[in-house]
Amino acid sequence: MRKKVIAGNWKMNKLPNEAMEFIAELTPLVKDTENEVVICVPYTDLFYSLMHAQGTNIKIGAQNMHYEEKGAFTGEVSGEMLKSIGVEYVIIGHSERRAYYGETDETVNKKLKKALALELKPIVCVGESLEEREAGKAKEIVTTQTKLALEGLNNNEVEKTIIAYEPIWAIGTGKTATKEDANETIKWIREEIEKIYGKEVADSVIIQYGGSVKSGNAKELFEMSDIDGGLVGGASLDSTEFAKIVNYNV
Ligand code: 13P
Repeated sequence: MRKKVIAGNWKMNKLPNEAMEFIAELTPLVKDTENEVVICVPYTDLFYSLMHAQGTNIKIGAQNMHYEEKGAFTGEVSGEMLKSIGVEYVIIGHSERRAYYGETDETVNKKLKKALALELKPIVCVGESLEEREAGKAKEIVTTQTKLALEGLNNNEVEKTIIAYEPIWAIGTGKTATKEDANETIKWIREEIEKIYGKEVADSVIIQYGGSVKSGNAKELFEMSDIDGGLVGGASLDSTEFAKIVNYNV
């Protein structure tokens, strides 16, 4: 039985005092859930968030990392740096990083390998644009992105990788993929993993859906056979709303 992982992606939002306040509000609301609760916060909030999430079931993640350990990479943060302060999760290859900051399937693969080597828990994002979906290319795009992201990993590493299927056209637009479309696309991803790594691995990989998830649609999405929780943007900025998403099954 795969665990549901509900992760917030705050993107470039919230100052440390707001992060601490959010965690104080969220803690009692999600303390009894059986789902994994994660918030991926800006770098400047990481340390404060980790301190305030101590002793709770809220896990803290970063939104990006570099694949090199150190060096002349102005403005970058390494996986080692994240690990050194106790960060547990890291988002890799979000479509906004692919679109605005030159992230490629190759850098995603390098970052994923590095995150796994450091025992950070990676959430790797894949997803097609509206034009690609309308042209009937969604399957090709997401399966290729998945294959290239996972290239060179062993079975054990693939099992530890969380994949987030986020159709680009559903991000921040209020347009959610239908539960059937989201589930079908996630099945394509799972089938691709099965082709390369076998059924046992494919059946154990956690694959989330992301794109305009909110309390009003979380239950119908997360109850689908292949959707193992969500990566939540806008709706994760409000503690009450995010708690409702986490508690979709109570
Ligand atoms: P929204 O939930 O705001 O659509 O964002 C989704 C997302 O990009 C999460 O990573």
